[in-house]
Amino acid sequence: MEKKITYLDRNEYNFEPCPAVIEALKNFEPNKLCFYTRIYDEGKKSIFSDYLSQLYNIPEKQIILGYGGEDILKQIVHYFLAGKEKNKTLLIPKFSWWYYKSIADEVDGRSVLYPLYEEGDTFKYDFAAMKEMIQKEKPKMVLMASPNNPTGNSLTIEELDDILSFIPSETAVVIDEAYASFANKDTGYIKLLLDKYPNLLIVRTLSKFYGLPGLRLGFAFMGTSLTRFLNYSTKYLGYNRLSEELGIAALKSTDYYQKVASQMAEDRKIYMSELNPLPGFKVYQSNANFILVKYPISQKAALQAALQSQGYQVKFMNEPDINTHMRITLGTHAQNVEVIRIIKETAKA
Ligand SMILES: Cc1ncc(COP(=O)(O)O)c(C=O)c1O
Repeated sequence: MEKKITYLDRNEYNFEPCPAVIEALKNFEPNKLCFYTRIYDEGKKSIFSDYLSQLYNIPEKQIILGYGGEDILKQIVHYFLAGKEKNKTLLIPKFSWWYYKSIADEVDGRSVLYPLYEEGDTFKYDFAAMKEMIQKEKPKMVLMASPNNPTGNSLTIEELDDILSFIPSETAVVIDEAYASFANKDTGYIKLLLDKYPNLLIVRTLSKFYGLPGLRLGFAFMGTSLTRFLNYSTKYLGYNRLSEELGIAALKSTDYYQKVASQMAEDRKIYMSELNPLPGFKVYQSNANFILVKYPISQKAALQAALQSQGYQVKFMNEPDINTHMRITLGTHAQNVEVIRIIKETAKA
């Protein structure tokens, strides 16, 4: 019999979709698939972007949709870094999602890493270093992630405002907010920042807080100076009609997902209280659906073997300076308790 693997390595959702999403799927009118959306005749992309526009109080024209945050990030980075001129510069956090550098490489962009430093049990953006690098490198684009993957720390609105006010208006700024709903229920700041900084793009997704990575639905809000990119990104014949209905059902169920997120927050505390006392272990604060755990490198093979043999897949980091760390997605309470047990037993052995 094939062994069941619990995937805690890609920050997916080990729960059921919320009842409203399941209902929307059951009630979906199949004939809609036989026609393009007509909302395009009204100059709008989708009923989903229209709904987002009301929810976030941002004009529909400033919203783009994509096949997950991944797709939108790729479009943005390719659009701003590609071209005859090679080596256009993108600033990205030193510890961050590997994908940013990879998409910049695809168009011969030049990724420059700005530092994040450890303070107590959290990571912080090094704003002084960032500012120096912005002046020196004159990047085409600056990318930040809040909360950041894999470090789990997020930026406050004041910090964002401070760094945004420093970045020249001809530089595009992207904030990857894939995990933001775990950190902050308030979304009013998005409009305020977009109105103040026309060079800003904020990317979000249904994959993390709303637990629908298989739906492949992401969206982004963009400042008004980026209209050329908006035109480039907008699809002539509208959007996926099934995804848009499921996406709306999910966004209307924020309270449901908030309960799941609260359970995850409780389990993060259990991870800390259970693993921090183990010699050489450190659990970092996290504002997302994963935690980063530092462990003694001498135990790497044993931890990998123990987790794997008991059917748990977590992400062992390999990047420089963060290679004695593992990133563990928060699963159900029972799964989290199991992973803690396996780690504790292995560390004792
Ligand atoms: C930091 C970050 N941004 C964006 C994404 C993209 O997710 P999706 O393409 O499913 O929206 C991920 C997925 O793991 C991520 O970790």
